Amino acid sequence: MLIKTPKLSDLKESDVTPESVYMNRRDLLKGMGFLGAGALLAGASNKANALDWFSKDEPTKFKTTPLNYTPDANTDNLILTPESKVTTHNNFYEFGAQKHQPAELSQNFKVNPWQLTISGECDNPITLDYDDLTTMFALEERIYRLRCVEAWSMVVPWIGFSLADLLKRVAPNSSAKYVFFETLHDPQQMPGQENRRLGGGIAYPYVEGLRIDEAMNPLALMSVGLYGKTLPPQNGAPIRLVVPWKYGFKSIKSIVSIKLVREQPQTTWHKLAPSEYGFYANVNPKHDHPRWSQASERRITSGGLFARNRIETLAFNGYGEQVAHLYKAMDLRKYY
Ligand code: MTE
Repeated sequence: MLIKTPKLSDLKESDVTPESVYMNRRDLLKGMGFLGAGALLAGASNKANALDWFSKDEPTKFKTTPLNYTPDANTDNLILTPESKVTTHNNFYEFGAQKHQPAELSQNFKVNPWQLTISGECDNPITLDYDDLTTMFALEERIYRLRCVEAWSMVVPWIGFSLADLLKRVAPNSSAKYVFFETLHDPQQMPGQENRRLGGGIAYPYVEGLRIDEAMNPLALMSVGLYGKTLPPQNGAPIRLVVPWKYGFKSIKSIVSIKLVREQPQTTWHKLAPSEYGFYANVNPKHDHPRWSQASERRITSGGLFARNRIETLAFNGYGEQVAHLYKAMDLRKYY
Protein backbone atom coordinates (compact mmCIF):
# COMPACT_ATOMS: atom_id res chain seq x y z
CA MET A 1 0.00 0.00 0.00
CA LEU A 2 1.32 3.45 -0.87
CA ILE A 3 1.96 5.35 2.34
CA LYS A 4 2.20 9.10 1.91
CA THR A 5 3.35 11.56 4.53
CA PRO A 6 0.47 13.96 5.15
CA LYS A 7 1.21 17.52 4.20
CA LEU A 8 -0.73 19.77 6.56
CA SER A 9 -3.17 22.16 4.94
CA ASP A 10 -2.63 20.76 1.46
CA LEU A 11 -6.33 20.97 0.79
CA LYS A 12 -8.48 23.99 1.38
CA GLU A 13 -12.03 23.45 2.58
CA SER A 14 -13.22 25.43 -0.40
CA ASP A 15 -11.50 22.95 -2.73
CA VAL A 16 -13.89 20.18 -1.86
CA THR A 17 -17.13 21.63 -0.56
CA PRO A 18 -19.27 24.19 -2.32
CA GLU A 19 -18.76 27.39 -0.40
CA SER A 20 -22.48 27.91 0.07
CA VAL A 21 -22.76 24.67 2.02
CA TYR A 22 -20.01 25.05 4.57
CA MET A 23 -20.74 28.73 5.00
CA ASN A 24 -24.36 27.75 5.65
CA ARG A 25 -23.42 25.33 8.40
CA ARG A 26 -21.24 27.99 9.99
CA ASP A 27 -23.96 30.59 9.56
CA LEU A 28 -26.08 28.47 11.88
CA LEU A 29 -23.43 28.65 14.60
CA LYS A 30 -22.74 32.31 13.89
CA GLY A 31 -26.44 33.09 14.05
CA MET A 32 -26.51 31.45 17.44
CA GLY A 33 -23.69 33.77 18.47
CA PHE A 34 -21.02 31.08 18.67
CA LEU A 35 -18.71 31.81 15.76
CA GLY A 36 -17.33 35.30 15.61
CA ALA A 37 -16.98 37.00 12.25
CA GLY A 38 -13.28 36.08 12.40
CA ALA A 39 -14.11 32.42 12.17
CA LEU A 40 -15.79 32.96 8.86
CA LEU A 41 -12.61 34.33 7.37
CA ALA A 42 -10.45 31.35 6.68
CA GLY A 43 -7.52 33.66 7.12
CA ALA A 44 -4.19 33.56 8.80
CA SER A 45 -5.25 35.58 11.83
CA ASN A 46 -7.75 33.01 12.94
CA LYS A 47 -5.21 30.25 12.44
CA ALA A 48 -2.65 32.16 14.42
CA ASN A 49 -5.05 32.67 17.34
CA ALA A 50 -5.72 28.99 17.46
CA LEU A 51 -2.04 28.12 17.37
CA ASP A 52 -1.45 30.39 20.38
CA TRP A 53 -2.76 27.52 22.46
CA PHE A 54 0.45 25.69 21.82
CA SER A 55 2.80 28.64 21.90
CA LYS A 56 4.57 27.17 24.96
CA ASP A 57 4.91 23.79 23.35
CA GLU A 58 5.29 23.61 19.56
CA PRO A 59 3.17 20.81 18.06
CA THR A 60 5.21 17.79 17.03
CA LYS A 61 3.98 15.21 14.56
CA PHE A 62 1.85 12.58 16.33
CA LYS A 63 3.32 9.07 16.01
CA THR A 64 1.09 6.35 14.59
CA THR A 65 1.92 2.61 14.80
CA PRO A 66 1.42 -0.12 12.16
CA LEU A 67 -1.40 -2.56 12.94
CA ASN A 68 -1.97 -6.25 12.14
CA TYR A 69 -5.29 -6.75 10.39
CA THR A 70 -7.15 -8.76 7.77
CA PRO A 71 -7.35 -6.72 4.56
CA ASP A 72 -10.72 -5.85 3.01
CA ALA A 73 -11.38 -7.59 -0.32
CA ASN A 74 -12.87 -4.30 -1.63
CA THR A 75 -15.41 -6.08 -3.78
CA ASP A 76 -17.11 -2.73 -4.51
CA ASN A 77 -13.87 -1.58 -6.20
CA LEU A 78 -13.96 1.69 -4.33
CA ILE A 79 -11.21 4.17 -5.13
CA LEU A 80 -9.58 5.29 -1.91
CA THR A 81 -9.31 8.93 -0.95
CA PRO A 82 -5.57 9.61 -0.51
CA GLU A 83 -4.35 9.38 3.07
CA SER A 84 -3.01 12.93 2.89
CA LYS A 85 -6.58 14.18 2.34
CA VAL A 86 -8.23 11.85 4.87
CA THR A 87 -5.89 13.24 7.53
CA THR A 88 -5.99 16.96 6.67
CA HIS A 89 -9.64 17.63 5.79
CA ASN A 90 -11.42 16.90 9.05
CA ASN A 91 -14.39 17.76 11.17
CA PHE A 92 -13.32 17.60 14.80
CA TYR A 93 -14.63 20.79 16.36
CA GLU A 94 -12.81 20.14 19.64
CA PHE A 95 -9.69 21.15 17.67
CA GLY A 96 -11.28 23.92 15.60
CA ALA A 97 -14.28 24.36 13.32
CA GLN A 98 -12.25 24.76 10.14
CA LYS A 99 -11.23 21.76 8.11
CA HIS A 100 -7.47 22.28 8.38
CA GLN A 101 -7.43 22.99 12.13
CA PRO A 102 -7.78 19.47 13.63
CA ALA A 103 -4.63 18.25 11.87
CA GLU A 104 -2.76 21.34 13.00
CA LEU A 105 -3.95 21.59 16.59
CA SER A 106 -4.18 17.96 17.70
CA GLN A 107 -0.65 16.65 17.22
CA ASN A 108 0.21 16.78 20.95
CA PHE A 109 -2.97 14.93 21.94
CA LYS A 110 -2.25 12.16 24.52
CA VAL A 111 -3.97 8.87 23.73
CA ASN A 112 -2.05 6.60 26.11
CA PRO A 113 -3.13 6.08 28.88
CA TRP A 114 -6.77 5.94 27.74
CA GLN A 115 -9.85 4.41 29.30
CA LEU A 116 -13.03 3.42 27.51
CA THR A 117 -15.88 2.34 29.77
CA ILE A 118 -18.83 0.29 28.52
CA SER A 119 -21.60 0.35 31.09
CA GLY A 120 -25.31 0.93 31.74
CA GLU A 121 -28.01 -1.65 31.04
CA CYS A 122 -25.76 -4.72 30.87
CA ASP A 123 -24.60 -7.63 33.02
CA ASN A 124 -20.81 -7.30 32.59
CA PRO A 125 -19.67 -3.65 32.38
CA ILE A 126 -16.00 -3.25 31.46
CA THR A 127 -13.29 -0.63 31.23
CA LEU A 128 -10.73 -1.04 28.46
CA ASP A 129 -7.20 0.38 28.62
CA TYR A 130 -5.26 1.72 25.66
CA ASP A 131 -3.64 -1.64 24.79
CA ASP A 132 -6.99 -3.48 24.96
CA LEU A 133 -8.32 -1.34 22.10
CA THR A 134 -6.04 -2.99 19.54
CA THR A 135 -5.62 -6.44 21.15
CA MET A 136 -9.05 -7.43 22.45
CA PHE A 137 -10.46 -8.34 19.03
CA ALA A 138 -8.93 -9.47 15.73
CA LEU A 139 -8.69 -6.33 13.62
CA GLU A 140 -10.07 -6.08 10.11
CA GLU A 141 -9.85 -3.48 7.41
CA ARG A 142 -13.18 -2.06 6.20
CA ILE A 143 -13.17 0.17 3.16
CA TYR A 144 -16.20 2.41 3.61
CA ARG A 145 -17.67 5.48 2.00
CA LEU A 146 -17.92 8.40 4.46
CA ARG A 147 -20.64 10.92 3.52
CA CYS A 148 -20.64 14.19 5.46
CA VAL A 149 -23.92 16.06 5.89
CA GLU A 150 -22.13 18.98 4.19
CA ALA A 151 -22.27 17.04 0.87
CA TRP A 152 -18.63 15.97 0.56
CA SER A 153 -17.50 12.36 0.81
CA MET A 154 -14.44 10.17 1.02
CA VAL A 155 -13.54 6.49 0.81
CA VAL A 156 -11.49 5.45 3.82
CA PRO A 157 -9.71 2.16 4.63
CA TRP A 158 -10.60 1.97 8.33
CA ILE A 159 -9.23 -0.71 10.67
CA GLY A 160 -11.19 -1.94 13.65
CA PHE A 161 -13.77 -4.39 14.95
CA SER A 162 -17.55 -4.57 15.03
CA LEU A 163 -19.32 -2.53 17.67
CA ALA A 164 -21.62 -5.57 18.02
CA ASP A 165 -18.69 -7.74 19.22
CA LEU A 166 -17.84 -5.18 21.87
CA LEU A 167 -21.44 -4.86 23.05
CA LYS A 168 -21.88 -8.64 23.22
CA ARG A 169 -18.94 -8.74 25.69
CA VAL A 170 -20.88 -6.67 28.22
CA ALA A 171 -24.11 -8.67 27.79
CA PRO A 172 -26.79 -5.99 27.29
CA ASN A 173 -29.99 -6.64 29.26
CA SER A 174 -33.55 -6.30 27.94
CA SER A 175 -33.75 -2.61 28.99
CA ALA A 176 -30.89 -1.67 26.66
CA LYS A 177 -32.78 0.09 23.85
CA TYR A 178 -30.18 2.66 22.78
CA VAL A 179 -26.43 3.17 22.92
CA PHE A 180 -25.00 6.50 24.07
CA PHE A 181 -21.43 7.55 23.15
CA GLU A 182 -19.29 10.30 24.67
CA THR A 183 -16.06 11.91 23.47
CA LEU A 184 -13.31 12.81 25.94
CA HIS A 185 -13.88 16.11 27.74
CA ASP A 186 -10.47 17.65 28.35
CA PRO A 187 -10.28 21.35 27.52
CA GLN A 188 -6.57 21.39 28.42
CA GLN A 189 -5.94 19.17 25.41
CA MET A 190 -8.90 20.05 23.22
CA PRO A 191 -8.81 23.83 22.88
CA GLY A 192 -12.18 24.10 21.12
CA GLN A 193 -13.92 22.76 24.23
CA GLU A 194 -12.94 25.88 26.14
CA ASN A 195 -12.57 28.47 23.42
CA ARG A 196 -16.11 28.85 22.12
CA ARG A 197 -14.98 30.70 19.06
CA LEU A 198 -12.56 27.98 18.03
CA GLY A 199 -14.90 25.09 18.89
CA GLY A 200 -18.07 26.45 17.31
CA GLY A 201 -19.81 26.95 20.66
CA ILE A 202 -20.89 23.32 20.88
CA ALA A 203 -21.76 22.17 24.42
CA TYR A 204 -19.01 19.61 25.04
CA PRO A 205 -18.46 16.71 25.43
CA TYR A 206 -19.62 15.74 21.94
CA VAL A 207 -22.25 13.02 22.32
CA GLU A 208 -23.94 10.62 19.91
CA GLY A 209 -26.34 7.71 19.94
CA LEU A 210 -27.69 4.70 18.05
CA ARG A 211 -30.69 2.47 18.49
CA ILE A 212 -29.57 -0.94 19.81
CA ASP A 213 -30.42 -2.80 16.58
CA GLU A 214 -28.43 -0.23 14.58
CA ALA A 215 -25.49 -0.65 16.96
CA MET A 216 -25.68 -4.43 16.56
CA ASN A 217 -25.57 -4.24 12.76
CA PRO A 218 -22.25 -5.77 11.63
CA LEU A 219 -21.39 -2.67 9.56
CA ALA A 220 -21.10 -0.42 12.64
CA LEU A 221 -17.37 -0.28 13.28
CA MET A 222 -15.21 0.70 16.23
CA SER A 223 -12.20 2.06 14.37
CA VAL A 224 -8.71 2.15 15.86
CA GLY A 225 -6.83 2.85 12.65
CA LEU A 226 -6.75 3.85 9.00
CA TYR A 227 -4.37 3.25 6.14
CA GLY A 228 -2.68 0.38 8.02
CA LYS A 229 -1.78 2.33 11.17
CA THR A 230 -3.32 3.55 14.41
CA LEU A 231 -5.56 6.61 14.04
CA PRO A 232 -4.02 10.05 14.06
CA PRO A 233 -5.70 12.39 16.57
CA GLN A 234 -7.51 14.45 13.94
CA ASN A 235 -9.40 11.31 12.85
CA GLY A 236 -10.44 10.38 16.39
CA ALA A 237 -7.57 8.55 18.11
CA PRO A 238 -7.41 6.22 19.85
CA ILE A 239 -10.91 4.90 19.07
CA ARG A 240 -13.94 6.20 17.20
CA LEU A 241 -17.20 5.00 15.77
CA VAL A 242 -17.81 4.63 12.00
CA VAL A 243 -21.43 4.21 10.87
CA PRO A 244 -21.13 4.19 7.09
CA TRP A 245 -24.82 4.43 6.20
CA LYS A 246 -25.32 7.62 8.26
CA TYR A 247 -24.05 11.17 7.85
CA GLY A 248 -20.55 11.58 9.23
CA PHE A 249 -21.58 13.46 12.36
CA LYS A 250 -22.86 10.17 13.85
CA SER A 251 -19.30 8.77 13.67
CA ILE A 252 -18.14 10.17 17.01
CA LYS A 253 -14.41 10.43 17.71
CA SER A 254 -12.06 9.81 20.67
CA ILE A 255 -14.66 7.91 22.70
CA VAL A 256 -14.31 7.43 26.48
CA SER A 257 -17.78 6.13 27.34
CA ILE A 258 -20.36 3.84 25.74
CA LYS A 259 -23.53 3.44 27.78
CA LEU A 260 -26.48 1.15 27.16
CA VAL A 261 -29.58 3.17 27.99
CA ARG A 262 -33.38 2.88 28.03
CA GLU A 263 -34.32 6.14 26.29
CA GLN A 264 -33.25 7.77 23.04
CA PRO A 265 -30.28 9.95 24.06
CA GLN A 266 -29.68 13.59 23.16
CA THR A 267 -27.03 14.04 20.47
CA THR A 268 -24.78 17.01 19.79
CA TRP A 269 -25.94 18.28 16.38
CA HIS A 270 -29.57 17.44 17.05
CA LYS A 271 -29.46 19.53 20.23
CA LEU A 272 -27.96 22.46 18.30
CA ALA A 273 -30.49 22.43 15.44
CA PRO A 274 -33.16 19.71 15.70
CA SER A 275 -34.84 20.65 12.43
CA GLU A 276 -31.57 20.28 10.50
CA TYR A 277 -29.84 17.28 12.08
CA GLY A 278 -31.96 14.30 13.05
CA PHE A 279 -31.21 11.53 15.51
CA TYR A 280 -31.23 8.92 12.73
CA ALA A 281 -29.25 10.90 10.13
CA ASN A 282 -29.41 8.11 7.55
CA VAL A 283 -27.92 9.24 4.24
CA ASN A 284 -30.97 10.04 2.14
CA PRO A 285 -30.67 11.76 -1.26
CA LYS A 286 -34.43 12.33 -1.28
CA HIS A 287 -34.50 14.33 1.93
CA ASP A 288 -32.72 17.63 1.51
CA HIS A 289 -31.12 19.50 4.33
CA PRO A 290 -33.34 22.57 4.89
CA ARG A 291 -30.60 24.74 3.41
CA TRP A 292 -29.00 22.56 0.73
CA SER A 293 -29.60 19.53 -1.49
CA GLN A 294 -28.48 16.06 -0.45
CA ALA A 295 -29.01 14.58 -3.93
CA SER A 296 -25.32 14.62 -4.84
CA GLU A 297 -21.94 14.92 -3.20
CA ARG A 298 -18.43 15.92 -4.01
CA ARG A 299 -16.11 12.91 -3.66
CA ILE A 300 -12.69 13.88 -2.39
CA THR A 301 -10.23 12.11 -4.68
CA SER A 302 -6.62 12.37 -5.69
CA GLY A 303 -7.69 14.84 -8.38
CA GLY A 304 -6.91 18.51 -8.15
CA LEU A 305 -9.14 21.48 -7.79
CA PHE A 306 -10.87 21.01 -11.13
CA ALA A 307 -11.38 17.23 -10.96
CA ARG A 308 -14.89 16.26 -12.03
CA ASN A 309 -15.87 14.45 -8.90
CA ARG A 310 -19.53 15.26 -8.26
CA ILE A 311 -21.47 12.04 -7.93
CA GLU A 312 -25.01 11.04 -7.04
CA THR A 313 -25.63 10.29 -3.39
CA LEU A 314 -26.85 6.75 -2.75
CA ALA A 315 -29.66 5.84 -0.34
CA PHE A 316 -28.09 4.70 2.95
CA ASN A 317 -24.79 5.73 1.34
CA GLY A 318 -24.86 2.53 -0.74
CA TYR A 319 -25.41 0.17 2.22
CA GLY A 320 -29.18 -0.30 1.81
CA GLU A 321 -28.93 -4.04 1.31
CA GLN A 322 -27.37 -4.42 4.75
CA VAL A 323 -29.41 -1.85 6.70
CA ALA A 324 -32.69 -0.84 4.99
CA HIS A 325 -34.58 -3.54 6.95
CA LEU A 326 -33.85 -1.65 10.17
CA TYR A 327 -36.17 1.13 9.04
CA LYS A 328 -38.87 -0.82 7.21
CA ALA A 329 -41.75 0.40 9.34
CA MET A 330 -40.55 4.01 9.58
CA ASP A 331 -41.34 7.17 7.63
CA LEU A 332 -37.79 8.29 6.83
CA ARG A 333 -38.91 11.85 6.08
CA LYS A 334 -40.19 12.14 9.63
CA TYR A 335 -37.32 10.21 11.24
CA TYR A 336 -34.52 11.96 9.33
N1 MTE B 1 -16.62 13.64 16.73
C1 MTE B 1 -16.30 14.61 17.60
N2 MTE B 1 -16.02 14.29 18.87
N3 MTE B 1 -16.29 15.93 17.24
C2 MTE B 1 -16.62 16.33 15.97
O1 MTE B 1 -16.59 17.55 15.68
N4 MTE B 1 -17.34 15.64 13.72
C3 MTE B 1 -18.16 14.65 13.02
C4 MTE B 1 -17.59 13.24 13.16
N5 MTE B 1 -17.19 12.97 14.53
C5 MTE B 1 -16.97 15.32 15.03
C6 MTE B 1 -16.92 13.97 15.44
C7 MTE B 1 -18.34 14.97 11.60
S1 MTE B 1 -19.38 16.29 11.28
C8 MTE B 1 -17.78 14.24 10.60
S2 MTE B 1 -18.17 14.52 8.96
C9 MTE B 1 -16.79 13.18 10.89
O2 MTE B 1 -16.46 13.09 12.28
C10 MTE B 1 -15.52 13.47 10.11
O3 MTE B 1 -14.57 12.45 10.30
P1 MTE B 1 -13.12 12.63 9.65
O4 MTE B 1 -12.58 13.95 10.11
O5 MTE B 1 -12.31 11.47 10.14
O6 MTE B 1 -13.33 12.61 8.15
